[in-house]
Amino acid sequence: MKEDIESIIIDEASLQKKVEELGKQITEDYKGKNLVLICILRGGVVFLSDLMKNIHLPLEIDFFSLSSYGKSTTSSGIVKIRKDIDTDVFNKHVLIVEDIVDSGLTLQYIFDYLKKHNPASVKICALLDKPESHKIDIKLDYLGYEIGNEFVVGYGLDYAEKYRNLSYIGILKKEIYS
Ligand code: IMP
Ligand code: MG
Repeated sequence: MKEDIESIIIDEASLQKKVEELGKQITEDYKGKNLVLICILRGGVVFLSDLMKNIHLPLEIDFFSLSSYGKSTTSSGIVKIRKDIDTDVFNKHVLIVEDIVDSGLTLQYIFDYLKKHNPASVKICALLDKPESHKIDIKLDYLGYEIGNEFVVGYGLDYAEKYRNLSYIGILKKEIYS
């Protein structure tokens, strides 16, 4: 896998430190509240599993999945629910845990969808953001890093379902997907 990576942009130690910081902030902000972390499959799983260990509060977790990009590296814009949440989020504080924000359309859809279940609040925690790619205005309540427009993999993020198990975030060599 390593030979397919052009360069490492965020190494393992930096990711762990960042996730600790985010967890600390979330712990402070949600003290005394019913917190439900909703992880967006599949890219969010590595981030979720590290993040939840750094949130020192009682909490629930659940998973949500939309139709994916397939092998493409740009958004298809097609939205279809593949897996809905099973948790009743009514009156609970929902925090969406997402790997990366590109156009912002995925998150916007999920945000609006979850709001319909009348939770006490809905906020967003994303590990990575590509601000230059946004197609809509989207407010990220917790963010790890802003990055450029390059296609990245690792720490949950894939290309054609591969590279999710890398412990760092790297830029994929262009010849892999062109
Ligand atoms: P959006 O709806 O355009 O914001 O797309 C967000 C989703 O696209 C993320 O949840 C990822 O699954 C995927 N995605 C966007 N950029 C990348 C990338 O650089 N690497 C891997 N997946 C990405
Ligand atoms: Mg995703």
